Amino acid sequence: MAGKIPRDFIDDLLSRTDVVDIVDNRVKLKKAGKNYQACCPFHNEKTPSFTVSQDKQFYHCFGCGAHGNAISFLMEFDRLEFVEAIEELARHHGLEVPREQGGPPAMSEAKKQQQEDDYALMEKVARFFQQQLRTHAKSGRAIEYLKGRGLSGDVVKQWEIGFAPSEWDGLLNSFGNSGNRVRQLIDLKLVNQNDQGKRYDFFRDRIMFPIRDRRGRVVGFGGRVLPDESGPKYLNSPETRIFHKGQELFGYYQARQKNRSLERMIVVEGYMDVVALSQFDINIATAALGTATTPEHLQLLMRSTSHIVCCYDGDNAGRQAAWRALENALPALKDGVKLTFLFLPDGEDPDTMVRKIGSQAFVKLTDEALPLSRFFFESLLKTHEVGTPEGKMALKAAAQPLIDSVLGDNQKLLLQEELAKHTGEYDRFRLQTDIARANQRSDKPASKKFEAMHKTRQSPVRMMIRLLLDQPALATECEDVLPQMLANSGIAGMDLLLQIHQYCSSHPRAKTAQVIENFRDHPHSPVIAKLLHQEHLISDDEASQVYADSFARLLDWHFDSRIETLISRSRMQPLSREEKEELNLLMKERQSQ
Ligand code: UTP
Ligand code: MN
Repeated sequence: MAGKIPRDFIDDLLSRTDVVDIVDNRVKLKKAGKNYQACCPFHNEKTPSFTVSQDKQFYHCFGCGAHGNAISFLMEFDRLEFVEAIEELARHHGLEVPREQGGPPAMSEAKKQQQEDDYALMEKVARFFQQQLRTHAKSGRAIEYLKGRGLSGDVVKQWEIGFAPSEWDGLLNSFGNSGNRVRQLIDLKLVNQNDQGKRYDFFRDRIMFPIRDRRGRVVGFGGRVLPDESGPKYLNSPETRIFHKGQELFGYYQARQKNRSLERMIVVEGYMDVVALSQFDINIATAALGTATTPEHLQLLMRSTSHIVCCYDGDNAGRQAAWRALENALPALKDGVKLTFLFLPDGEDPDTMVRKIGSQAFVKLTDEALPLSRFFFESLLKTHEVGTPEGKMALKAAAQPLIDSVLGDNQKLLLQEELAKHTGEYDRFRLQTDIARANQRSDKPASKKFEAMHKTRQSPVRMMIRLLLDQPALATECEDVLPQMLANSGIAGMDLLLQIHQYCSSHPRAKTAQVIENFRDHPHSPVIAKLLHQEHLISDDEASQVYADSFARLLDWHFDSRIETLISRSRMQPLSREEKEELNLLMKERQSQ
């Protein structure tokens, strides 16, 4: 049984690794001053905004915000899982990945083996259907149908479209050569077993679309009925141990294979839409498998692109499906991601549309898709009349919970602002955001000492975290800076600062890469990501001064508020001896500054 990979090993692995090598092997880097540069591999750009710092062992793109250490780079670029990225790095250094004893087992060997067998069988079954389309005596109708739909031979091949013969036991006979195999076919829902114990193929007389997961493994199938046959138009593989509909998108893997970086992706409703678009050289479409778009889908899409166009029929059902997708998307919607909605004319789907107007015009439609906020309020304003105070209240009641559910702060703010405009509360909204911004800056006049810090609008705690992330050695260099002193101060962000400071103090040679690695799964890792993304204008030589000054400012704040607390308490009841002493000390300290 494999246990967890020890943290120390990961730290050590990172200290042996040079992120510059790892990146340079995949994306040619150019030296630019202290750092290295390239055009970002994670978004389309013409001038390089992707930098790799050897000092920090950290890469960052100022264009799209992609950032991380060597492990993150392998995960994103080679599309590996965390453990796979570690294994890859270990292999690079000729090391064996150790596992901790005990702890939750990653996955038992038997289960791993079974999964591999499952994927292998699914792959063979996909080949089988493809071969049936070419060779089965009765596949002529299927071929005719595909031709009639305007599909080229190339596209049929590219999408590995196949044919499930009409026999009850076509698949069963070809693959069910042992009890175990039959069991596996049943588990993977390729074969059904009825109450009498009779077994038969699940897909019969259908055109077959293999569904690949994001790593390219066949996990399920969609089967289309032939014309004039009975049964549902599409039959999809039911959920199995390797197939979870809410997590898979048809065409996602192929889109990633075809495009190094994806400026946008289109979500359509049908298999045939994805396939038809690709015939017109639009290789960025994916389809949910007969379910509404789930938050998991959106997360998957957001790993690859920052612009998602959801495409629907223009009729009522299409609008409703779009609204459902929107509701599902909001809790997963990160800042920096653009979600837009394209409604096609009534009765058209992307397949018929692209054949009618061609690919250029279709792409143009996606350019002009409705931004999320437009669709959001247009839909709500259809059912809420905002001419009256009651109507405004009702709109607010409908919109607010949805806005609250949005993940990204900026996305949320944008919708909130829009809502305020519709409810006539815009002035109040502006006032509130202005106050919030002013609080974020500083509530004290800037002395010369803090000048450097005021180049940014960072709070002192955030500034300290940011500087520690950049230069973990500050924790040991500035030994007078002891955030522990403020452990119980209740200052926002203090917990995270303490934890990062503690890590940096106990790992004096750590670089940015190791620090962020240790906080990869930390609940505050989004905060860290956000901080890293913000450019601070502090030069390396100013850093320790600003770091120490920020801490001094925190102490001042804390002392001031403690003084105020003690004074106001003294008005209600006499202070204890200790409290009086504390107050005296604090006042003296204050005056001496
Ligand atoms: P559509 O009916 O729009 O499919 O359903 P389509 O791809 O345009 O099919 P053609 O053009 O008529 O061949 C959209 C999607 O909904 C799911 C399928 O995933 C389909 O691609 N669906 C549809 C089902 O799961 N079952 C059905 O009976 C119908
Ligand atoms: Mn269709």
